[in-house]
Amino acid sequence: MRLTILGGGGFRVPLVYGALLGDHAEGRVTQVTLFDLDAARLSAIARVLAEQGEGVPDAPAVTATTDLDEALRGADFVFSAIRVGGLAGRAADERIALAEGVLGQETVGAGGIAYGLRTLPVVTHIARRIAELAPDAWVINFTNPAGMVTEAMSRILGDRVVGICDSPVGLGRRVARVLGAAPDEAWIDYVGLNHLGWLRGLKVGGHDVLPRLFEDDALLGSFEEGRLFGTEWLRSLGAVPNEYLHYYYFNREAVRAYREAERTRGAYLYDQQAGFYEEMGKPDTPPLATWHRVLADREATYMAHNREAAGVGERDEADLESGGYEKVALALMRAIARNERATLILNVRNRSTLSVLDADAVIEVPCFVDAAGAHPVAVDPLPYHAVGLVTAVKAVEGEVLAAAESGSRATAVKAFALHPLVDSVTAARRLVDGYAAEHAGLAYLRH
Ligand code: G6P
Ligand code: MN
Repeated sequence: MRLTILGGGGFRVPLVYGALLGDHAEGRVTQVTLFDLDAARLSAIARVLAEQGEGVPDAPAVTATTDLDEALRGADFVFSAIRVGGLAGRAADERIALAEGVLGQETVGAGGIAYGLRTLPVVTHIARRIAELAPDAWVINFTNPAGMVTEAMSRILGDRVVGICDSPVGLGRRVARVLGAAPDEAWIDYVGLNHLGWLRGLKVGGHDVLPRLFEDDALLGSFEEGRLFGTEWLRSLGAVPNEYLHYYYFNREAVRAYREAERTRGAYLYDQQAGFYEEMGKPDTPPLATWHRVLADREATYMAHNREAAGVGERDEADLESGGYEKVALALMRAIARNERATLILNVRNRSTLSVLDADAVIEVPCFVDAAGAHPVAVDPLPYHAVGLVTAVKAVEGEVLAAAESGSRATAVKAFALHPLVDSVTAARRLVDGYAAEHAGLAYLRH
């Protein structure tokens, strides 16, 4: 089995390789091809993987290339984890929105729209190459904004592309833990869009134990989301929102914290990652230890501005282990390749799951996965306030997809203007101008 990783020089690739190293069963991945535009990043990550694989007799062989077509030919699975425009692009996405007084974040609000506009033409090209060179391959998309990107790729690849995110898994794990349930045995009732979903139930042996959480103030305030949103707000909602909903429910506070911060998340990571790759360019640097050190810092500082805005302290020790997206990816691959049935929260086409959305709209929902792919499970409808956010943001995503396809500036303005976290059409116009002036990748917005 051959796995191709697009964005193979990316910082999180060793997490994926680490998960592969733990798989010794028949039908496992035996060959990994790393593709990246940047050869120096590829060799840095290849060094980390080489050390990870030391002493593992059946470690998957690793090759690296900067040629996309070569990377795709013969692939059984393709992981896409690219960052168009790099972290400099992410920092600019954040900065330009914040200067306008609205949220600049990797996937949410104006920043997420800008990132989507830059990324969609690239992933559409990639999807076309996959359709031609590896038509039977399954594509697992981590590239953010993951919902929008998965939807764009699904227009070409259909249900052969599945999007993944670690945030629902992390949420489910935290809630299960405080309720004393085994995370792997609990059924998590979660639905929404990527980075915009709610956990409404947690069933153990068919019985929903979530009400117990809402009855106990100490329990409710004892984990990340309880602290971030506050117990009173969680009770009002009657559900536990994905942490990214902090940007919506506490938007003013989040924007203020981001604006007052010395550096945005993107700018912070830009410096951190530049340091990492530079260190890795030196022959004496111990690859794995260096990577672990930087990963620990990345995890510890995740959403630090939001935690600061909420007046809560550090992340829990248990949350500092990486979110587990590599485990979701591996479980997904095994379920498809070996028909090892699994239930996973994934980004897939809606079909009839949420009746307020089109069948082709990509949503995030628990799915049964087998050799035929991922099948969304029937869920209860969302309450109106959640339907409002989900449909508004899905409408925005639709405009981003349309703008990326047509190159229409007016459509791009519409995408920004319709977003619930952008409060003015005039601001939306200025945002489009600001982003187009900054990013060469937006030159296609011409008419
Ligand atoms: C979570 C999200 C990912 C996102 C990451 C950002 O894991 O689910 O979609 O890429 O956080 O973390 P970063 O360290 O890049 O801010
Ligand atoms: Mn995510």
